[in-house]
Amino acid sequence: MDSQLGRVAVTGAAGQVGRTVREGLGDAEHLVLIDRSPLPEPADADRETAVEADITDVEAMVKAFEGADAVVHLAAIADEAAMPDLLRANVEGALAVLEAARRASVRRVVLASSNRVTGNYPIHHHVFPDEPPRPDGFYGVTKVAAEALGQLYADTYGMQVVALRIGSLEEQPTETRHLATWLSPRDCVGFVKAALTADNVNFVAAYAVSANARRFWDLTAGENELGYRPVDDAAVYSGEFPDDDPFWHGGPQGGAFAGPEALAPHLPGGGTQE
Ligand SMILES: NC(=O)c1ccc[n+]([C@@H]2O[C@H](COP(=O)([O-])OP(=O)(O)OC[C@H]3O[C@@H](n4cnc5c(N)ncnc54)[C@H](O)[C@@H]3O)[C@@H](O)[C@H]2O)c1
Repeated sequence: MDSQLGRVAVTGAAGQVGRTVREGLGDAEHLVLIDRSPLPEPADADRETAVEADITDVEAMVKAFEGADAVVHLAAIADEAAMPDLLRANVEGALAVLEAARRASVRRVVLASSNRVTGNYPIHHHVFPDEPPRPDGFYGVTKVAAEALGQLYADTYGMQVVALRIGSLEEQPTETRHLATWLSPRDCVGFVKAALTADNVNFVAAYAVSANARRFWDLTAGENELGYRPVDDAAVYSGEFPDDDPFWHGGPQGGAFAGPEALAPHLPGGGTQE
């Protein structure tokens, strides 16, 4: 057991990142696994508690967080969607989780942010986390807001908040863009553990991406402020993707996630042009 990790509550525990985090935090004293959907594997009663609840239910979150040393907040709509749905899950949800953590006296909250907060920077721009946001869609806009809520709770209440701008979590890269954006499961766990245990945290925003030779994001915040340097590199899979893929010719870092076609189905009022 890694006693440093203590008792950790994880929202969105039934999701893709949640499953990786659950496995990776197996050495925590206790895990409280929260999701509105059932967990893929039932909780192990000796070291896990399952809570089926919606993150926007502040009272349910306060109850779930009682006695926790930290919260890892993953629950969200994790892709492009209509703004009202995104606002409810990703902004009101993040606020409810931060507020419940404050009320339950939880010392640290790790927020799952996304690389898509800066997905409209061009691929040749090396982005530092303190550069202005350039979201590539409504989803990215709501993650900018979630980070801002984290900063607000850190500044106002002295809570310790780490926003991890997650890359593309996959067992291994499945498309060209992943040569830049891949986050291996091992590095995902490494970043989350570092975010839970780093000293002297007030508010930190850091990219959580593997040490990919072709990445566009700066890793020094993770290294200096969280003490984690990723170990994997998508370059070992580069032979599986064509060198002349149009993605590398230019355009936004978000690739196919960015641009008018990606946004069109989600525009308010149907988005049709006169
Ligand atoms: N998977 C990635 O590569 C990636 C990349 C960037 C950011 N992220 C962020 O990481 C987090 C997890 O992503 P994921 O890929 O695991 O998504 P996912 O869709 O696989 O899992 C999200 C989980 O959250 C739960 N959930 C959603 N809304 C909820 C609510 N209102 N109340 C309770 N539970 C709710 C869902 O039931 C689901 O189990 C998200 O915040 C996402 O934006 C993921």
